[in-house]
Amino acid sequence: MSQLIAPSLLSADFANLQRDIEMINSSAADWFHIDVMDGLFVPNISFGFPVIQHIKKHASKPLDVHLMIVDPDRFIDEFKNVGADVLTVHYEACNHLHRTVQRIKSLGMGAGVSLNPHTPVSLLEDILPDTDLILIMSVNPGFGGQKFIENTYKKVSELKNMIIKTGAKTLIEVDGGVDLNNARKLIDAGADVLVAGSFVFKSTQPSKTIEELKNA
Ligand code: DX5
Ligand code: ZN
Repeated sequence: MSQLIAPSLLSADFANLQRDIEMINSSAADWFHIDVMDGLFVPNISFGFPVIQHIKKHASKPLDVHLMIVDPDRFIDEFKNVGADVLTVHYEACNHLHRTVQRIKSLGMGAGVSLNPHTPVSLLEDILPDTDLILIMSVNPGFGGQKFIENTYKKVSELKNMIIKTGAKTLIEVDGGVDLNNARKLIDAGADVLVAGSFVFKSTQPSKTIEELKNA
């Protein structure tokens, strides 16, 4: 299977969102990556339900929603209602992660768990079989355009080994600073889904850049 590509709309032109959504619709991209930030879990605020609802109206591919918010249990149902297909919460933001993951799945969404750069993958051992996706942050979450953290390769291959050992079907997604310098190495380490924000939207030919990541 070739890798899935999920362009992050955080780096899109919000005044021309429909144009950028249509570019992704007609590109080789697989998912829309949607970053939700609350100003508490991360030092930034992005956008919320009304914007996602409008994205959903135009998007012809699944919405991969990455919640960088504290206590995400408060909003799981509402993210389902605005059209999330995969919903990812942070390990560091959940006191009862097992319950959170079960709730996400019970609503028919794929359940993802994300790790900050300082959180070891070994902590996932008991939740892994319940997840559809693990999102490894390769920058500290909060902003697009940051520098890729090299320790990510090690985390991805450790996680891949855990997945193989347990026979889980979980996908590995990598988010932050992804570009053509690290894409191949991430896939070789075991990544299944690559998120790319600034690398796609700062490109003079975003659709071609998506294609290049898809073929990396
Ligand atoms: C960062 C977000 C990312 C961000 C990635 O906190 O989770 O999805 O948009 O942007 P780039 O690809 O520019 O690092
Ligand atoms: Zn993200």
